[in-house]
Amino acid sequence: MKITNFDIYAELLKDKSGLSISHDKSYLLESRLTPIAQQHGYDSVEDMASALQGVPNTTLVNEIVEAMTTNETFFFRDIKPFDIFKGTVMPYMAQARSAVKKMRIWSAASSSGQEPYSLGMILKEAGMPWSAWDIDILGTDISQDILAQAKEAIYSQFEVQRGLPIQLLMNYFTQDGTRWHLKKEIVDMVKYQQFNLLDNPAHFGQFDVIFCRNVLIYFDAPTKTQIFEKLYKQLAPDGYLFLGGAETVLNLTDKFKIIPGQRGLYAKADGPHMANAA
Ligand SMILES: C[S@@+](CC[C@H](N)C(=O)[O-])C[C@H]1O[C@@H](n2cnc3c(N)ncnc32)[C@H](O)[C@@H]1O
Repeated sequence: MKITNFDIYAELLKDKSGLSISHDKSYLLESRLTPIAQQHGYDSVEDMASALQGVPNTTLVNEIVEAMTTNETFFFRDIKPFDIFKGTVMPYMAQARSAVKKMRIWSAASSSGQEPYSLGMILKEAGMPWSAWDIDILGTDISQDILAQAKEAIYSQFEVQRGLPIQLLMNYFTQDGTRWHLKKEIVDMVKYQQFNLLDNPAHFGQFDVIFCRNVLIYFDAPTKTQIFEKLYKQLAPDGYLFLGGAETVLNLTDKFKIIPGQRGLYAKADGPHMANAA
């Protein structure tokens, strides 16, 4: 692909979704965008680049952004963060929020729902006191298509075989041939809204726990820093932030600190959890 055309796509993606792509990802642009170019009547992805200058068609732009997102996810991904949620975060919140009996969780790049639903299943399995609490789980993603899948909550055999303990599969899914329907009792625990992490999340209010996993890896350093600022504002002073295994706050922000010994878990640098931390 011509450098100038590549740059048109790279700038558009950076501007609209934060996605930062390098020239060696030219093949990815071609393979993911060729079907869109064809549907819109262009000879090639190169040819479609001309349509993106000036004031481009919003539908086309959205389709390009959606096609370039990576939606890879699975139930209980990396397991450790979910163990930490169960073993550290839930016990803390059970005490800290015992007066209000309310906990708000944000899965900030929820993809097809496996992350927020994994949290829902953990809370449901825990029973009391959580069953008497007001638990609010919000899943957001930039992609409308993936959110539609999340809301539908129907998973393939392959998807339920990745990370989901058999007991939870038995307890919370009903089988329909090779498809598995997540039961309403878990589906209803999660609300979804389309949201771009480049935008201002203030309208969502404050959360006790934020999962923002495996999305910052796609952004450049200044974009990550801006997103950390927003997450900081949306997190309760004693809230917890989870990042993905390849993500960190180091050299990007001083608003959050790693909780030592708890992989992927972060807290506000000026909050109560950091008193004993390095
Ligand atoms: C690799 S998935 C991660 C899903 C889940 N958090 C996990 O760790 O398994 C990344 C998700 O981020 C979403 N995404 C990409 N750019 C985004 C943005 N600017 N705002 C919100 N979501 C975005 C993608 O649509 C995709 O569903």
